[in-house]
Amino acid sequence: MPAGYSDVLIGLQYGDEGKAKVIDLLASDYDIVARFNGGANAGHTIADARGTLALHQIPSAVFHPSLLLYIGSGCVVSLEKLAKEIAAVQAFGIDLSGRLSISSQASVIQPHHVVIDEATGKELGTTKNGIGPAYADRAYRMEGKRQLNIRLCDLLEDPKHCFDAMKRSTLDTIDRMDVSAIDPIETITRMEEALKTLTPFIERDTLFLQKRVQKGARVLFEGAQSAMLDVVKGTVPYVTSSSTLAGAAYTGGDLSPSFHRKTIGVAKAIMSRVGNGPFASEFGGEKSEAYCMEDDGNAHTRDYEQKTYDTEAFLASEDPFEMGVALRLLGGEYGTTTGRPRRMGMLDLVQLSYACSMSGVDVLFLTKCDLLSDFERTAANAIPFVTGYTLDEQDIDFVPGSSDTYRRVRCTVTLAPAFKENISSVRSWGDLPLALQQVLRTIERKTGTKMLGIGVGPRSDQFVLKK
Ligand code: IMP
Repeated sequence: MPAGYSDVLIGLQYGDEGKAKVIDLLASDYDIVARFNGGANAGHTIADARGTLALHQIPSAVFHPSLLLYIGSGCVVSLEKLAKEIAAVQAFGIDLSGRLSISSQASVIQPHHVVIDEATGKELGTTKNGIGPAYADRAYRMEGKRQLNIRLCDLLEDPKHCFDAMKRSTLDTIDRMDVSAIDPIETITRMEEALKTLTPFIERDTLFLQKRVQKGARVLFEGAQSAMLDVVKGTVPYVTSSSTLAGAAYTGGDLSPSFHRKTIGVAKAIMSRVGNGPFASEFGGEKSEAYCMEDDGNAHTRDYEQKTYDTEAFLASEDPFEMGVALRLLGGEYGTTTGRPRRMGMLDLVQLSYACSMSGVDVLFLTKCDLLSDFERTAANAIPFVTGYTLDEQDIDFVPGSSDTYRRVRCTVTLAPAFKENISSVRSWGDLPLALQQVLRTIERKTGTKMLGIGVGPRSDQFVLKK
């Protein structure tokens, strides 16, 4: 049998582009869906006739029973949360035994990682899952004789040694940071229980994926977070702590790059961002950032905004901040993991081209295109998108390395004719409004990619593929 191949699917903006839905759409063309970065900071909700499942660590393709699911060594694992997720999936009637494999080389999120993240993550607006401290300890490895990076294989080899080290790290952290204490004994007891649930899923063969692809398996790598949240190439320091670009699939995903076939990028037609940090095309700029992050992102929930604002009046407002609030309400843009309001912005083609070129994106999927018709009811009656950046009066075609510099960039906005048709039941490219087809052509030209398809609604059948 000839060897298989791997494709990498990544988000191209600031997360929440709807990657899970695209994976669900493409999954039947693959044998394995694999995660290579991040942990429970990712979040996606998937639904079928049985109800809704919120997943954070398990790859998105759980509803495809013939597919294997793999969590690679580049991920960081929350034992308790993953055990609960597995139980929730099994309670849904989906059997994961023999389907889910977790690399034994993935690092464990330890109690003190969560303590540190809760105490210090506010400024970045982290998801408080302990992700950054876990990756930091992975790099830090040891402190004196104490092991800081504890992986699943270490836990299986010598659980007592590892749990003792975790207990000491937690007590030290509580002492050093003067934070409200968690009970390390109780927490570690719960982790020991969770480890029992996870043990049958932990894969000791470090060549697990490699061997399967050599024998013909087709892998889809599922990126978590997105290009602009990459720990090096994103809007540092307002980023996650793992590598989110396509190349990272071949370090954190436990497969050699020789199997790479193509890169699929997912972007959202109206952009969003959660957490602090630059967002050049944000409706309402810094006012929106401060508003969305008030009380750690908890002040302006969906419920609050629905009760407080007149969506249609805000949509027609000349104030971009108000327009952004209306677009958030219309698009249901509130965090899956945290419930925080997402900051809203226009599609930014300079940023998108930057992300496409860094990851060598071959094909592009643009989600939530049905919402573009909302612009027909705005004061400008047009679809705005960013087509140029100016920095210190010079045109630039890249995202600056420094976030402070990025905040000084001025955007050139182009207005495209709006359309008012409801496209949620359109299924063929030729039936899309001509104004939208024109926008999509512009995106292809500017990013040098080909459109694979677009999303036209929240259900898994609501997409239009470009044949
Ligand atoms: P952390 O990954 O929890 O450390 O959070 C760092 C930054 O990444 C924060 O701004 C988060 O809001 C953001 N972030 C992390 N995961 C996601 C995600 O899955 N979608 C969108 N933003 C995310």
